[in-house]
Amino acid sequence: MISTEIVKGVHYIGVNDRTTTRFEGIWPLPYGVSYNSYLVCGSRKNAVIDGVEVSHCFKQIDKIKEINPEIKIDYLIINHMEPDHSGGVVALCREFPDMKVVGNAKTADMLKGYYGLDENVVVVADGDTMDLGGKTLHFHLTPMIHWPETMMTYLEEDKVLFAGDAFGCFGALNGGIVDKEMDTSLYYPEMTRYYSNIVAKYGLFVQKALAKFADVPVDYICSTHGPVWHDELKKVIGIYDRLSRGESEEGVVIAYASMYGNTEDMADVIARRLAVDGIRNIKVHNVSYSDESFILRDIYTYKGLIVLSPTYNGCAFPKIEALLSSLQLRAASGKVFACAGSFTWASAAVKRINAMVEKLKFTRVGDDVEMKQGMSGDVAEKCRILADKFAAELRK
Ligand code: FEO
Repeated sequence: MISTEIVKGVHYIGVNDRTTTRFEGIWPLPYGVSYNSYLVCGSRKNAVIDGVEVSHCFKQIDKIKEINPEIKIDYLIINHMEPDHSGGVVALCREFPDMKVVGNAKTADMLKGYYGLDENVVVVADGDTMDLGGKTLHFHLTPMIHWPETMMTYLEEDKVLFAGDAFGCFGALNGGIVDKEMDTSLYYPEMTRYYSNIVAKYGLFVQKALAKFADVPVDYICSTHGPVWHDELKKVIGIYDRLSRGESEEGVVIAYASMYGNTEDMADVIARRLAVDGIRNIKVHNVSYSDESFILRDIYTYKGLIVLSPTYNGCAFPKIEALLSSLQLRAASGKVFACAGSFTWASAAVKRINAMVEKLKFTRVGDDVEMKQGMSGDVAEKCRILADKFAAELRK
């Protein structure tokens, strides 16, 4: 058997999913995803922490049996009930009929609702502890990262934080489990994508959780997705802190729609001028072709956002409306923002974009550029002036 021990008595028993194409049915998985699960063995009791998605539940059970074919599992600790982590709970209960399922009051309600489980359920409250024999688990409720029942479990003796979705990322584990066993460069963009797609609406709760653990010594973060963080722990915590505070790097995302290339001409003039002005990170997305998942990732990575749309049915282009709606849902903040648009006979897109971002905490820059039909020297100059002002604002 190949060791999957992270620290003595704590084993990785998670699985990789390289066949599901869209997480939650919406977010693409070009590098797959892992559903992480852990086995904590005390001198008296054993606990599984976090489950896996239903179609992988027998792999998880096999991994437990590989570690010890005779093992008795006393507890399943459920930090998060979303089915990518709880789907295998029924199979695990059948395999280990004496096992108790541990969660908080909201977890218990969801166990009953999703799986009809209401026996052998142990309800814990914030601050409760459980002694497995030299392995003491502390339960901390951290609601809304990413559901109301979410909690984190801290293993005192080994300073391991089982963090649920927090600090997680897309991307299957390709051999390495702990960050020191791999090149982690794949996972950082996938962490920002995971945060922006899944967790961003709950940034305030991430901040509360970070404050709660500020004085707790942590050597390992065991998230439910992606690598176990150890060597790069500080970097990962810093990323989550910045993302949840709405902070980002210098750079600009230009998200545009264009039916026949005219609005795209405006986007290209702006992008070129930004480059001449010295901006080096410029990500241009045609919203009809870039998946929203990656556009959101870039918007959360970079400080600047410029949106361009043709007028369409008296509104903005549908995919621009969808993107702005996603930003509204996440209460995106901290962006330097500008917009531009085009129309053929009646202007509406720019007005609509402005209405959709009105309540977001963005810093508006320059005058909106509106183009009737096709590019002209006057419109190009207005785009360049907008880009100049935008670059200057980014550098403030
Ligand atoms: Fe990985 Fe919110 O589930």
